[in-house]
Amino acid sequence: MIQVLFVCLGNICRSPSAEAVFRDMVAAKNLENRIITDSAGTGAWHVGNPPDERAQLIGKTRNIQMSDLRARQVRSSDFEQFQYILAMDNDNYANLSRMKPDHFNGRLCKMLDFGASEETEVPDPYYGDLSDYEYVFDLLKPASEALLKHIIENDLDR
Ligand code: 4NP
Repeated sequence: MIQVLFVCLGNICRSPSAEAVFRDMVAAKNLENRIITDSAGTGAWHVGNPPDERAQLIGKTRNIQMSDLRARQVRSSDFEQFQYILAMDNDNYANLSRMKPDHFNGRLCKMLDFGASEETEVPDPYYGDLSDYEYVFDLLKPASEALLKHIIENDLDR
């Protein structure tokens, strides 16, 4: 079983969107029992909250449901549980790198390391408008497809 964690700052915009996009792709391939997903934030301000309404709204226009998700903060045990930890931006990546124990033998990287985007970060939409949330989903879809393809090819022996 492979466990995948998506991480942003607040865990109410980008990382729950990534989790929701990716888990739908996993489900479409009937891999829910082999690939487990979660998301978390480096910050704690929104712990316990559902995804931002703007993310949920844009998700709905793309048939992506995420109202069941609740924000939590990254914890040190995440490095014991997850084999893939995907940071949305450089700040998230730097914070996770500082937390990462030496014995972590999974993969800590940025979301847009997967796929062929010209962007290297998923930009924070929180102080933006709906078009910024649209752009987040535009970036997440091909990156999620590439991530899933990578996991299927490299981690699932089938
Ligand atoms: P996220 O967006 O990291 O994509 O969930 C943010 C949500 C909340 C805040 C910043 C970014 N905030 O400052 O509260």
